[in-house]
Amino acid sequence: ALITPTTLTEYRALPRALLSVSRATGDIEWLEDDVAAGEVQDVIARHGAASESVDVVRLKLGEFLIPGFVDTHIHAPQVPNLGSGQEHELLDWLSEVTFPMESRFADADFAKRAYSSVIRRTLDYGSTTCCYYGTLHAEATKILADVIHGYGQRAFVGKCNMNRNSPEYYVEPSAEASLTATRELIAHIRALPPPPDAPASEPLVRPILTPRFAISCTGALLDGLGRLAAEDPALAIQTHISENESEIVLTKKLFPPGSLPSPPPLPNRKEKTQTARPKPKGTDPGVTYAGVYDAFGLLRRNTILAHGVHLEEEEVALIKARGAGISHCPTSNFNLRSGSARIGMLLDHGIKVGLGTDVSGGFSPSILTAVQHASMCAKVVALRTGTTPAHTRFTDRQLPMATLFYLATRGGAEVCDLQTRIGSLEKGKAFDALVVSVRSEAGNPAVWGMDTAEELEMGLARDGKARAKTEREELAGMLERFLFCGDDRNVRRVYVQGKFVGGKEWRQ
Ligand code: GUN
Ligand code: FE
Repeated sequence: ALITPTTLTEYRALPRALLSVSRATGDIEWLEDDVAAGEVQDVIARHGAASESVDVVRLKLGEFLIPGFVDTHIHAPQVPNLGSGQEHELLDWLSEVTFPMESRFADADFAKRAYSSVIRRTLDYGSTTCCYYGTLHAEATKILADVIHGYGQRAFVGKCNMNRNSPEYYVEPSAEASLTATRELIAHIRALPPPPDAPASEPLVRPILTPRFAISCTGALLDGLGRLAAEDPALAIQTHISENESEIVLTKKLFPPGSLPSPPPLPNRKEKTQTARPKPKGTDPGVTYAGVYDAFGLLRRNTILAHGVHLEEEEVALIKARGAGISHCPTSNFNLRSGSARIGMLLDHGIKVGLGTDVSGGFSPSILTAVQHASMCAKVVALRTGTTPAHTRFTDRQLPMATLFYLATRGGAEVCDLQTRIGSLEKGKAFDALVVSVRSEAGNPAVWGMDTAEELEMGLARDGKARAKTEREELAGMLERFLFCGDDRNVRRVYVQGKFVGGKEWRQ
């Protein structure tokens, strides 16, 4: 059985799929929708493979394949802080809880130990791709990249750029030092060798520019990062945006009107830009948070913006025009009392959205928790509005299960600009996938509510052929229960680029 997202509101649920993965590349070679048990060898032969060269893996009843989860926002060095500090809002939480922990990563041994357990955990939870923030340290962040590379996870890895408004014991001495360390990390990551057993594949670990947030960067630092980005259009960028009200106030104070360079021209809007009248002096409503990043050339199609809880209308239009994506981090947004992001509204504007755990602002490294809280967040937004708007698709409505599934997988892939490689199970994409089990031996009774695997089989087989047309609904029901009640016990096997790298059955 296989389930894969297709659009924001639809997915394919195939109870009897046959999917072929190339041993040489780890990519999906073909996918047949509906193959009876007795036809497997014939179908393989029809695709031209000699049966002795093929390993056939059959899933049991109650097991199914889905694409791996994409965590578009996670701070690896904050994992040791999980579950602490939830009494604070953002700015106090950073200075009281987060910066003290991150500063410990000056110690390479500590970094190695902490990062090894972090990556093991995110992989076993089913995040096949993660966008990681390291600390400000180049050395520790190289260790982070090495550990990820060793475990075989797909990832973006960046060191935080932060040269102001940070404590004396945890701040970079200058913009220049920050940029030099950033270049050094990028070179290190790009020199990592290809995985030994799939030499044909693309690199799994990629560098990403990581200005922590506008508050922690001087204009000179953002300018230097913008120049680095301009030299290298493939280089991804990640940062925080509009998470907390005090943060927004401080950002606007640090970048007053008139303090910013002019942004690059907007694509296909040349005329409009040229004919736009300058805002009269004194009445300038001021810069927006997104406008700060844009002025330095840091908003583009491979920019990942975390949070976006309090975005102004003008910023929504700008983010859309630049093609940047939003990492929705509902666990963190509730936990740090930041607010409820209007994700449905962003989707209706055609903005790319993925999910992020935002560990340790978020208290769970599992994307399943982010799915659950994204659902609750949409309901909170809908409740606040009071009435269900008649003419919107997503705005101020609760999000359907298909949309939540999409955000956790394909939406995340779009936000990372990797949608041609990952995010769904289809021919030509990498086999980044999870084998999920809702069988009772998975050890999580919440998911199915039956005591034994036999009962599960009996339940499914109850009406036999008479129910054949509802097999897809059974499978959809399994996915929904997994998304809402599942945890790592149900994530049995995790594959990245065709390789078995994690899950409950790994190492057994
Ligand atoms: N803004 C700047 N740094 C951070 C961080 O580490 N976590 C969160 N949630 N927001 C931030
Ligand atoms: Fe964050």
